[in-house]
Amino acid sequence: MQLLEIDIEYRVLFGISGMVLLFTSFLIVFIISQRKKLQYHRDLHDLHEEQKQSLIEQNLLLEQRVEERTKELRFQTKELQKSLHELKLTQLQLIEKEKMASLGEMTAGIAHEIQNPLNFVNNFSEINMELINELKQGLEDGNLEDVAGLADDLQQNLEMINNHGKRADSIVKGMLEHSKGVTGQKEPTDLNKLANEALQISYKSFNQKDAGFSTSVNTFFDDSISKVPLIPQSMQKVFLNLFSNAFYAVNEKKNNLGASYSPMVSLTTKKNGGNIQITISDNGTGISQTIISKIFHPFFTTKPTGQGTGLGLSLSYDIIKAHGGEIHAESAEEGHTTFIINLPELI
Ligand SMILES: Nc1ncnc2c1ncn2[C@@H]1O[C@H](COP(=O)(O)OP(=O)(O)OP(=O)(O)O)[C@@H](O)[C@H]1O
Ligand SMILES: [Mg+2]
Repeated sequence: MQLLEIDIEYRVLFGISGMVLLFTSFLIVFIISQRKKLQYHRDLHDLHEEQKQSLIEQNLLLEQRVEERTKELRFQTKELQKSLHELKLTQLQLIEKEKMASLGEMTAGIAHEIQNPLNFVNNFSEINMELINELKQGLEDGNLEDVAGLADDLQQNLEMINNHGKRADSIVKGMLEHSKGVTGQKEPTDLNKLANEALQISYKSFNQKDAGFSTSVNTFFDDSISKVPLIPQSMQKVFLNLFSNAFYAVNEKKNNLGASYSPMVSLTTKKNGGNIQITISDNGTGISQTIISKIFHPFFTTKPTGQGTGLGLSLSYDIIKAHGGEIHAESAEEGHTTFIINLPELI
């Protein structure tokens, strides 16, 4: 019985100490886990702080870079604006120079063109003064035969003066026409008809000047071309000049080569994309490569005095430009010239 009582005490004691031990170990485990948790949270907090700091640093760095880049860009923009300004200034200077150059070229051309007929007028009028003195003397002497001869000379010289005066007049008129620019209203025009009429007029007027003149003329009209908005009087001038140049070129060649040569002038119209293309060709004297770049310059002519002022093509060029088109010449083979005009179908 006593043994059993001791046993119970021991057992209670063991039980209690076991529980204390269990509780203590639980407590220790709990404390350790709490400390670990705390440490983890601290570490996490530290990491956050570190990351925050590094983000702030990176932001600062970025802001600094953006500021630097902005500064650089501002500088580059300023430099670009400066270059653009300089470029505009140079362009204006170039345009001014170009204007002065063409003004100089033009003035030299005008002076040269007008000087020629003026020289004739001056020389012949001086000769006429002398002739009049001789004529007076002849009258005093009663030498009527001499007087009649002198009167004939005077008449011939006056004709020369008149011709050259007219030539100076036509040069001034041509210049005035040039300086007026292209005037007139665009109106729907039958382009094929207009070009064909100019061809007929030009041919007739060449025939009137030179009765022996003849050439074969070929026309190819694109009938699908409807009415084109054109300034008819101006376009007529372009066509008249191109045909008259072509007839002149074939006539020159005919005079040089005679019967072995068959002159030919052709006119073609066709639609070409959004453009109307007009081609005027001849197998005349051709244009050498050395002068082809000058033919559109005002006063450039290879024709003898009295036969051309050299304003036809430069005026034509202005007219075509005023229609939003373009004109150029090709003379690849010796003795074959083609003028090509491109006009926008709708202006
Ligand atoms: N079809 C052509 N064949 C050969 N040369 C040409 C032809 N068309 C033009 N030219 C050359 O171009 C030059 C300039 O032509 P442009 O029509 O401007 O003046 P021009 O005919 O000499 O005088 P203007 O037209 O004022 O009477 C001509 O003098 C000629 O040398
Ligand atoms: Mg001409």
